[in-house]
Amino acid sequence: MCGIIGYSGTGNDVQEVLLTGLSGLEYRGYDSAGFAISNGSLAVHKREGDVSGLEAEVPASNHDGLAGIGHTRWSTHGPPSDENAHPHTDCESRVAVVHNGIIENYQALRTELSTAGHEFESDTDTEVIPHLIESALENGATPDQAFRQAVDRLEGSYAVAAVFQADETIYVARNESPLVLGVGDDGHYLASDVPAFLEYTDRVIYLEDGQFARVSPSGIVVTDEQGAVIDTAIDTVDWDPEDAGKSGYDHYMLKEIHEQPTALRKCLRERVSELENTITVDELSSLESTGPIQFVACGTSYHAALYGARLLRENGRSAQCFLASEYDARSIPITDETLVVGVTQSGETADTMSALRAANQAGATTLALTNVVGSSAARECDHVMYIRAGPEIGVAATKTFVSQQAALAMLSGVLSNGDSPTLIKDLRGLPDKLQHVLDESTAQAVATEFVDADAYFFIGRGYNAPVALEGALKMKEITYKHAEGFAAGELKHGPLALVTERTPVFAVVTGTDAAKTIGNIKEVEARGAPVIAVTDSPEAVGQYASHVLAVPDAGPYLTPILANVQLQLVSYWVANQLDRSIDKPRNLAKSVTVE
Ligand code: F6R
Repeated sequence: MCGIIGYSGTGNDVQEVLLTGLSGLEYRGYDSAGFAISNGSLAVHKREGDVSGLEAEVPASNHDGLAGIGHTRWSTHGPPSDENAHPHTDCESRVAVVHNGIIENYQALRTELSTAGHEFESDTDTEVIPHLIESALENGATPDQAFRQAVDRLEGSYAVAAVFQADETIYVARNESPLVLGVGDDGHYLASDVPAFLEYTDRVIYLEDGQFARVSPSGIVVTDEQGAVIDTAIDTVDWDPEDAGKSGYDHYMLKEIHEQPTALRKCLRERVSELENTITVDELSSLESTGPIQFVACGTSYHAALYGARLLRENGRSAQCFLASEYDARSIPITDETLVVGVTQSGETADTMSALRAANQAGATTLALTNVVGSSAARECDHVMYIRAGPEIGVAATKTFVSQQAALAMLSGVLSNGDSPTLIKDLRGLPDKLQHVLDESTAQAVATEFVDADAYFFIGRGYNAPVALEGALKMKEITYKHAEGFAAGELKHGPLALVTERTPVFAVVTGTDAAKTIGNIKEVEARGAPVIAVTDSPEAVGQYASHVLAVPDAGPYLTPILANVQLQLVSYWVANQLDRSIDKPRNLAKSVTVE
């Protein structure tokens, strides 16, 4: 949550870099935005609302400064307002600070600083930081010392950056919140995530927890907590700047839905060989696991984990799935035989990170299944498998869900030592079949017909149960309409009371359990509800439904992945017709770094 950008250099206009970066970071938070540029004094611009509002308000000129920081906010302490927007400054406006994370001891620090005469203008936890810096400056500290002394007082999570008046260095620190540095030819960058500066450079340094950095036009110096300089590796990211743009689509979400065949191909590349009949994941070559497997994840990633756990059980492994926020290491048996897999697109989700840390402390082997190279989860875990979906900007997860499922199918092959020729063949054919769904889908027409419904229900069993949950999550988060997903057999145990002729039911019917789900469809129809069957057997199942969204048969394990794509499209088109803020739904943020 919250996005941070910073630039110090001579090659580009600082304000332009900051505004471009903030637009690229809006998926992390979008209730207020601001920036500060050091140009002898500090020029600070900030306001409630999104980045385009800020951009319209500030003069187009550059500020003749060499260093600046910016922030887009997802509010935690205090509502969205001009005052609560970052950057925050000290009493004399000598330093400006942006922060992502939560300062847990801010109340005590604020009381201490207020008693010492500091005046606060916002409700935020962040504002203590510039005042702590100010007090250190008053005691004779240099900017670098003052910044370190302030950070030393903080408890909690933070990615924090500060600029001082008349100083072209940006001071940076990180603890449990994402922060990546960019090495350019004409300057240096920092951001919560790589796409924010990808247009300028693809060379990055991943800052570790507890590290500090000084970012200036001439270079980046990374130091440890004691101030000793650390040699850091510069990595090159293989994301294309074009990946982070909309490429002519109205919304990132629609673009990302259409990128799914490509995302799948990248996920499978050099891992699945039909010729040799093998699944090989190089990153996992040293992973040994014979004991129980536990998945921890949130939201859409949890739905992917449900799918993965089921596959592993079917392959003879003991696998359980936990909502990361409910993973209580005290009440769950964890031994050094246990493998705990954190499924997380961003690799930064606080609930998932805390579950993974608990698992590590309890002695389990941990594995991160993530999209973001160098993310917190990737660093926390003993092993990492990347899903290679490319940047996902729309807040609603789409291509990363599909890539997670494909990666989990491969993981199940690796962990069950049984390379299944059928699964391998089906995986290889999946991208083309997904393309076929995108080309032929009639989801838009279905959305038009049911846009005024009171609520939407989604049912499926077996591998389709997580698809039903995910279909409902997607519908509620981008349309703001009531939607629920159920294991099909559960409908009659209560939720059926909600079913009326104004509540369309999407029934995902593929694979061997079709007969039972058809029975559930009949129960629904008897109550007058329209049924939309999402199925690979349109002839057989279509007769029980008022509408059909057809998908090709991709085998028993993968056809549900295709069914999910139809549901993504229905949600997208309902939200589109309701004129919702599809890429930035209200109250949500892409990377949820608070518990
Ligand atoms: C929904 C969505 C969220 C995320 C959840 C976990 O579309 O995107 O439910 O799946 O916040 O995020 P990650 O996967 O980054 O851990």
